[in-house]
Amino acid sequence: MDLLHTQDGTPTLLHPVYGEAYHPRQGALLQARRLYLEQTRTHLHPAPRVLEVGLGLLVNFRASLESALLRGVRLRYLAVEREPLPGELLARVRLPLPLAEEVFQDILGRWPAERFAGPWGELRVLFGDVREVQLPRLWATAVYLDPFSPRANPEAWSPFVLRALRRALRPGGRLATYSAQGAFRRALKEAGFALHRVPGVGKREWTVGIGRGVPPG
Ligand SMILES: C[S@@+](CC[C@H](N)C(=O)[O-])C[C@H]1O[C@@H](n2cnc3c(N)ncnc32)[C@H](O)[C@@H]1O
Repeated sequence: MDLLHTQDGTPTLLHPVYGEAYHPRQGALLQARRLYLEQTRTHLHPAPRVLEVGLGLLVNFRASLESALLRGVRLRYLAVEREPLPGELLARVRLPLPLAEEVFQDILGRWPAERFAGPWGELRVLFGDVREVQLPRLWATAVYLDPFSPRANPEAWSPFVLRALRRALRPGGRLATYSAQGAFRRALKEAGFALHRVPGVGKREWTVGIGRGVPPG
């Protein structure tokens, strides 16, 4: 697969079946920072635990790790991915994040594995479909919901999945996603999230869901 360049100079890929890019054309790293990292407040958290749906090119992971390393905090990251990309391809996806890139080189040396750990923290990968994996209860301080769009990839946005993500989130934790689709937003509210519309970059709105209190189940 050929890498494409987004407008902030960071790479992305086009998925051959979904016909969608892994990141917006305005910037892969730009979205990782402005949406996932900042809108979930992960960049401020003293002990961040991120649950991601769609690890992809590990752009969101590396942006989160760089932020944690610069602040001297450990990152715990649990990602669900059903189509892991080959290591040779990931090795070509370089990002201007010097601290995280060093850890990424170690990860690539053992890719794909279910757990990577070091003084920086931990990355665990659940290789499977988000509808089928077992997520930990009340674990995450943040959820990055980053599959392909609800139109192309509807199963990853279903009420069933959103309820599972709500159960995985700690009280006060935040879910962020680029999608502003109406049906998805209604399902997010029904799953027990307080819905917030935030201004997007390259699109009018992104979506943030805040998990208030302890969810049932
Ligand atoms: C938009 S890309 C993610 C980009 C990634 N977050 C990054 O930082 O580079 C979407 C990813 O979601 C994964 N995905 C889509 N549907 C899924 C599902 N039902 N379960 C698990 N992973 C899924 C795809 O394989 C793909 O890697």
